[in-house]
Amino acid sequence: MPNPVIDCLLNHRSIRKFKPDPIPDETVNLILQAGTRAASEGNLQAYSFVVVDEPDLVKKLGFFAPIALVALVDQYRLKRWFELNDAPFYNDQAVNLFIAYWDAVIALQNTVVAAESLGLGTVYVGMILSTDVQEILGAPEYVFPAGLVFLGYPDEEPPLRPRLPLDAVVHRNQYHIPTDDEIRGFYKEKDALWDELNPERKRKFEGKGIKNFAQAVTLGHYTPKFIEGESRRLINNIKRAGFRLLEA
Ligand SMILES: Cc1cc2nc3c(=O)[nH]c(=O)nc-3n(C[C@H](O)[C@H](O)[C@H](O)COP(=O)(O)O)c2cc1C
Repeated sequence: MPNPVIDCLLNHRSIRKFKPDPIPDETVNLILQAGTRAASEGNLQAYSFVVVDEPDLVKKLGFFAPIALVALVDQYRLKRWFELNDAPFYNDQAVNLFIAYWDAVIALQNTVVAAESLGLGTVYVGMILSTDVQEILGAPEYVFPAGLVFLGYPDEEPPLRPRLPLDAVVHRNQYHIPTDDEIRGFYKEKDALWDELNPERKRKFEGKGIKNFAQAVTLGHYTPKFIEGESRRLINNIKRAGFRLLEA
């Protein structure tokens, strides 16, 4: 029972090379409408989008593309509305951060599907979590970076990238603890990527004592130093935004 939505979802691939052609305003608006049509807790839409199209600012966020779309957890706008109505504000707590994070990312993924359905290419960039949006985007308190997507017309046609088999990802009723053999089976295709790496990259990894794809992930790419630095900046972002994670 294929249909255009399913076709679009099954055809997803990240695009990392974009044509410089601008995206027409009507297209951007349609994408944003599709984004904000997403579900949100209490229909409160505790998020904001920042459409970044100043080339220097886009580049600062990590890629060359006509637009960088930043999704923010936004409890600030709600606070302002509450204040105007003598309603108390206590949305500075962990659950408010996490639920609004959910709202923001769901809305952002809606924009990705909408953009791809209109022939645009997209790529998420995870580093936004550790970006100081107060400094870079002038965001106020109770605003925290949730997600970032670059949008533009594709200038490459990458192949579909592999996915884990459904059995690896889907559990029925109860979480199934896999055996070692099951884990090996799930990751067989990923493990095989080690032999397909370009020789120069492989030599670099081997120079660091890295012997397989899993080690390339934890020791070559997402290194302890990288993860710790990103985590520190993320925690600082939570604190800078004024969210309370520990106190009652
Ligand atoms: C949360 C998140 C963060 C990502 N961060 C980056 C990134 O920093 N740089 C990048 O090139 N791709 C990034 N990606 C894209 C993934 O690398 C990509 O989705 C994955 O390799 C699968 O490829 P596909 O999207 O083409 O199927 C990110 C994707 C997600 C969901």
